[in-house]
Amino acid sequence: MKNNRVLCCQVLYQVCYKHQHIKPALQHVLPVELAPQDRAWIQNCSYQTLRNHQQMQARWQKFVTKPIKDQLVDLLLTMSVTQKFVMDAPDHAIVNEAVKACKKLGKKWATGLVNKVLKNTLNDTDFVPQTEAQKYNHPEWWIKQLNKDWPEHAQAVLQANNQKPPLWLRVKNPQAKLPRGQKNSALPQAWLCEESSADIGHLLSNGDVSVQDGAAQYAAALLAPQAGDKVLDACAAPGGKSCHLLEYQAHITLDVLELEADRMALVEQNLKRLKLKAHRLMVADAERPELWHQGEPYDKILLDVPCSASGVVRRNPDMKVLRQAGHIKPLVDLQQCILEAQSQILKPGGRLLYATCSMFKAENERQIARFLKGHPDFKEITITIPGAITGKHGQQLITGVNQMDGFYYCLLERSI
Ligand SMILES: C[S@@+](CC[C@H](N)C(=O)[O-])C[C@H]1O[C@@H](n2cnc3c(N)ncnc32)[C@H](O)[C@@H]1O
Repeated sequence: MKNNRVLCCQVLYQVCYKHQHIKPALQHVLPVELAPQDRAWIQNCSYQTLRNHQQMQARWQKFVTKPIKDQLVDLLLTMSVTQKFVMDAPDHAIVNEAVKACKKLGKKWATGLVNKVLKNTLNDTDFVPQTEAQKYNHPEWWIKQLNKDWPEHAQAVLQANNQKPPLWLRVKNPQAKLPRGQKNSALPQAWLCEESSADIGHLLSNGDVSVQDGAAQYAAALLAPQAGDKVLDACAAPGGKSCHLLEYQAHITLDVLELEADRMALVEQNLKRLKLKAHRLMVADAERPELWHQGEPYDKILLDVPCSASGVVRRNPDMKVLRQAGHIKPLVDLQQCILEAQSQILKPGGRLLYATCSMFKAENERQIARFLKGHPDFKEITITIPGAITGKHGQQLITGVNQMDGFYYCLLERSI
């Protein structure tokens, strides 16, 4: 008999100690035959534990005299405390189930400890965080970077990052019967669902809708491909924006580029699901166009570069565990190389939309500032996104504003 708490601990273990992303970790650990309600509970509990990890761990650590070295017992305690202070579960169920799970995890020696520490922690409602990391449930370096980049918005961003995100749809079939929700005046295809758990399985499989945050839905209109344009989506998987470009303007020649073959398979699935057709799908390196680009340069290029994903952490709370300060510089260097290479295959008079789901200026306006300095043949085209902040270059959507993800866009034009 499978135990949901045991499975949840094993998922968290994969993320926190095996450095696996949460989605593959869930796939890896959860048996296929698991009932949907159990799967949903484990998914919710593991996401909420990752969102609130530092504070939940600090809450129980107050009641131990020496550190608990056993990683599964540590996670079991953190996950159980999350059930009380985030998920509102009743105390007796939390303690009983944690003790049972402790035995099933093969940690019989720790049952007394788990019982005692949990009872103390659940009664301790006056907890005061001792560090910024505990207060905001983010690594210290991340908090510092946000404070530096966005002193007026950092606190709101940190709080938004810890919330469950809403469900946004991009509607392809206007006749489709959508779950309860609302339109967005700036985004004709967007639908913000009232319930993030709305049942949309049939709408997805029919190709009536796609799941896509409102912030990501600006890309197509900002790049604004015209009929007859030759367009490249240079970092395309899983293909959300490629498909949107084709929905936005069916009469374009769209080339789709992606480095990872298994991720390109996701683009293919999405195109097929939505009954859309791209001109060419290329598994190749955006840094090396000389290896795959022939003929005419492009009229429009979408460059949704690999980034820290610091704007979408509410959807990917595992990033708070997996992302390290040292990852940012190599990402910035990679983005710079990709931007440099892609700028070479844009037509004179053509437009390139640079996009990230990052909140860090090094990946966004500073990246663009450096590029423009070295490329006098490029200029920035002013764009306006409702609710976004205009910085030195481009527009930054702040996580949580208009219920959207954190996103950055800058539109560049090559001179004729
Ligand atoms: C932010 S994601 C793109 C999301 C996508 N535009 C969408 O809306 O569905 C960045 C993608 O770039 C890919 N990538 C990373 N380095 C690349 C490179 N050198 N050339 C092409 N693609 C690359 C990654 O594998 C990843 O799929």
